[in-house]
Amino acid sequence: MTGEPEIPEAQDIPRIDTTVPHSARVWNYWLGGKDHYAVDREAGDQFAAVYPGIFDLARLSRYFLGRVIRHLAGEVGIRQFLDIGTGLPTADNTHEVAQRVDPEARIVYVDNDPLILAHANALLISDPRGATAYIEADLLDPDTIIREARQTLDFDEPVALILMQVLGHVSNADDDAQARAIVNTLMQALPPGSYLALNESAVTNEANAKATALYNESGGAPYYLREPEQIVGLFDGLDVLEPGIVPIQLWRPDPNPFGEPADVGVWGGTARKRD
Ligand SMILES: C[S@@+](CC[C@H](N)C(=O)[O-])C[C@H]1O[C@@H](n2cnc3c(N)ncnc32)[C@H](O)[C@@H]1O
Repeated sequence: MTGEPEIPEAQDIPRIDTTVPHSARVWNYWLGGKDHYAVDREAGDQFAAVYPGIFDLARLSRYFLGRVIRHLAGEVGIRQFLDIGTGLPTADNTHEVAQRVDPEARIVYVDNDPLILAHANALLISDPRGATAYIEADLLDPDTIIREARQTLDFDEPVALILMQVLGHVSNADDDAQARAIVNTLMQALPPGSYLALNESAVTNEANAKATALYNESGGAPYYLREPEQIVGLFDGLDVLEPGIVPIQLWRPDPNPFGEPADVGVWGGTARKRD
């Protein structure tokens, strides 16, 4: 693709639409990756012009993912992960963090962006003692996800369902029912002792809310910010782990000499399905 030397093979990939920004590619741009097109960089820069903190938000969100996986694999002993809305491969993907704790960990990734299928090899370099798989599927179709994930994961053993920065794409904030129904369907398929971990951007970050509203007019899949109470509500019926559903920088932070990272208005946490 002329002028797109970073991902030249993309011209050969069917179903890649470079006329509108795509969430996974814009996210990859903010994370400092190389898998994005001009339309994504333009949308990403327009967003950053209104909310410059978006680069920190993306990185802090990935950092939260890493801490969650490390905690679930290391402290809780979870060995199976279902990561939906995976995004493009980047540093410390879920299987890399989990398999550092236990090489036998099994991970299923799910996303609906065709570019991720094209780059999925990076997600599939599993430790041979464990397993990774990639499913191209839509979060709106949880039954298909469950059916296909069973080929890699044992649904008689606990699974951690990972939904990082994806439920905002599912339905607008006035309609929590759809997002809750999807979470419920997925959690019902998992045995007691399974976990839900997610993070979502909240309306509390005014600059992010303003930039997101503009982004949602760009033609890409919109993302809807929720009230913190709505994010907390996605964990209804589950036993929430300490320190609760909180701004992500407060969730089991690593000791460091630089103090607490900035509050980017992203809320998240982890909870256990009851016995
Ligand atoms: C903001 S990115 C977050 C990526 C990753 N979870 C992370 O936290 O770094 C949102 C991801 O969700 C995916 N996504 C959006 N809507 C989806 C849907 N309906 N089904 C599956 N994946 C979806 C996008 O393609 C993108 O990769």
